[in-house]
Amino acid sequence: MLGRDAFIHPRPTLVSNARLVRLICMELPARTPLALLPTPLVFCERLSEAWGGPRIWMKRDDLTGFELSGNKVRKLEFHFAAAAAAGADTVITCGALQSNHSRATAFAAARLGFRSILLLRRNPGEQLRLIGNYLLHHLGGAEVRLITPEEWEQRDLLMAEVAAAEAANGHPAWVIPEGASDALGMWGFVLATRELADQIAQIPGDLPVVWHAASSGGTTAGIGWGFDRLAVDIPIVACSIGDPAGTIREKVDAIWSEAGAATGAKQPEISIEYIDNHVGGGYGRVTTEELTIQTEASSLTGTILDPTYTGKAIVGLRREISSGRFSRGDNVVFWHTGGGFAALAHDFTGIVAAAPPAAGSD
Ligand SMILES: Cc1ncc(COP(=O)(O)O)c(C=O)c1O
Repeated sequence: MLGRDAFIHPRPTLVSNARLVRLICMELPARTPLALLPTPLVFCERLSEAWGGPRIWMKRDDLTGFELSGNKVRKLEFHFAAAAAAGADTVITCGALQSNHSRATAFAAARLGFRSILLLRRNPGEQLRLIGNYLLHHLGGAEVRLITPEEWEQRDLLMAEVAAAEAANGHPAWVIPEGASDALGMWGFVLATRELADQIAQIPGDLPVVWHAASSGGTTAGIGWGFDRLAVDIPIVACSIGDPAGTIREKVDAIWSEAGAATGAKQPEISIEYIDNHVGGGYGRVTTEELTIQTEASSLTGTILDPTYTGKAIVGLRREISSGRFSRGDNVVFWHTGGGFAALAHDFTGIVAAAPPAAGSD
């Protein structure tokens, strides 16, 4: 738990950051621009008022594009640059049936002229409904291959095998790991911290807490690395949406080690708070109470939150506000990492009021 003092820091200024920004750029790999950047930082006046705690801001990464909306596209910019440099004409990745990452990969591939192959995990009994991201995977022109939860456990091996088979058929392929969360994809969020540092320099009051949904670890790794290099000792909360906190920490540490080995750069010293007390029933499982909080947040911010990621993270924030973690006047930046299309695949019956059937209809 962060103490109140942890929130009080000197303001980052653009001038003092300039040298540090150059340092980040020296470590930076090649990048193919795909996202609409910078995304805005928006004050959520009605949500802050209604929830009665800190001043809540949203970093609107749900606006990184339409088909490419969300946090994944920042990471994919680095993977597609590497794929092109490696002479690949095909990208291979993996995810859940409603994976935001797989959808963004399919559309980035379509935009840049790559073939895409998606290995999607289908849980027992899970219906194959062409809705949300699962529809978009197909509209983006991806070749979809379904895998079992057991195969999912071997996903890196499977993707390597598919890549070898594609290469043997004359299609050099680039493998993008789950969530594009590795030492390459991480750089998307390292760059994003520069954006946010400039924006929070304009916020009155103490440095905000940066609150975000964490799963495969790339977003957290980039945020931590970036603020470490900017020397902005900002409180960062990685709100797990499924895994134990220790697992997310291990993933982030592994990405940092990999990045350190690749660049010779030193490991970040910044501390990140990992929490897992809001995962509820686990990945992708939501209760009526959670959906109700998400729906309230949507209607008070005019943004779409998805039940699996941003919805869970906003539920966590809501509960921590209720438990008195923040004072009025504290600032929180909720990093809205997207997921709107997955929300459209979710059944909100009983959560939102449906219009009564028209007279004479079934
Ligand atoms: C909408 C959304 N938010 C957050 C995350 C979590 O990001 P990461 O996997 O980098 O931890 C994901 C991952 O799929 C996502 O789709």
